[in-house]
Amino acid sequence: MEKLTGKKINTAVFISGKGSNLKSLIKYSKSKYSPIKIKLVISNKTNAKGLKYANINKIPKKIINFKKKFQAETRILNILNIKKINFICLAGFMIVFSKKFINKFPGKIINIHPSLLPKYKGLNTHIRVLKNNEKFSGCTVHYVNSNIDSGKIILQKKVKIIKNETVSSLSKKILKEEHKLYPKAINKIL
Ligand code: GRF
Repeated sequence: MEKLTGKKINTAVFISGKGSNLKSLIKYSKSKYSPIKIKLVISNKTNAKGLKYANINKIPKKIINFKKKFQAETRILNILNIKKINFICLAGFMIVFSKKFINKFPGKIINIHPSLLPKYKGLNTHIRVLKNNEKFSGCTVHYVNSNIDSGKIILQKKVKIIKNETVSSLSKKILKEEHKLYPKAINKIL
């Protein structure tokens, strides 16, 4: 099995918040069956809670201020180059990259979104899903292109919406599935 002996792909994970997907990706990356090695965590927020997982696991981290997007992207490209990063996982990263940035990593940037895309792109997914009385929601791992949550779908997991479902209960239920789906999706494409 090549994956057991082959060199792992240098990966960066981008976050803005809690980092529960980062946590699950770090766990997954440590398995000998995983094709990725997480070499870098990037956050656009100094106070992103998820940065603690980089600290605990001694993964280098960078905080990048996105007030000036062009400069921020240039800086990131430089860092990714120095660290020889070949694969990028967005995990709750709240910035939309420019076309120019995305084109530097064709087919190498993926994202996780808490809905059954192409339905409910963008923010506040769970509120909109519940308002529309949907029977199901879920999560999607997809390639990133320059339109929000619109790249080719890699994998999806459906969850059932129960009676009296709340934003909080739905979000918890979907996050639990996200933590399993993201590694599966990476395994599928690498
Ligand atoms: C997840 O629901 C993910 O699908 C969305 O942002 C959330 C990030 O959660 N893109 P966490 O920071 O990984 O806990």
